[in-house]
Amino acid sequence: MDMNNEQNIVIIGMPGSGKTTFGRRLAQCLDREFVDVDGYIEEMEGRTIAELFAVSEDCFRQAEIRASEKLAARKGIVVATGGGVVKRSENIDLLKQSGILIFLDRSPDDIVTDVDVSKRPLLAAGPQKVYELYRERIALYHHAGDYRIINKGAVEDVLQALTLLA
Ligand code: S3P
Repeated sequence: MDMNNEQNIVIIGMPGSGKTTFGRRLAQCLDREFVDVDGYIEEMEGRTIAELFAVSEDCFRQAEIRASEKLAARKGIVVATGGGVVKRSENIDLLKQSGILIFLDRSPDDIVTDVDVSKRPLLAAGPQKVYELYRERIALYHHAGDYRIINKGAVEDVLQALTLLA
């Protein structure tokens, strides 16, 4: 594929799909900087994700768009987005300006078996929320992603697929 070192590699997908884990590993392999958007937002806003959500989901989404603006201005980084980044098309338009989007697709059945829902405000309602979000978002992930990689849990397979793309 025609990708250069200046282009960002942006990973999208459901909460618990492995975006942060694989993003970090990929960045190490490629000797690039890694940015986890949730952590980036917390630093930028001086508030935790849970605190932003406690104000309102919209408050968090606005912060997410500000983060996308800043990250779209960067070059050559690996980015793990928050799972809901596809809910606002502004995010996708911004992130596509400077990067390729990779949809890391993991089945909801696999996600519910090992995701820690207590750390994710949107999933606080319980594991069934994972299925609901998947149904709501699957078309958005397919549409936004330039590439799709399936995460069936084999770490090396996913890493190999990611590095082949990069
Ligand atoms: C969200 C996912 C979270 C975080 C926020 C909202 C979502 O990120 O951005 O809680 O809407 O799916 P992870 O996908 O890293 O859990």
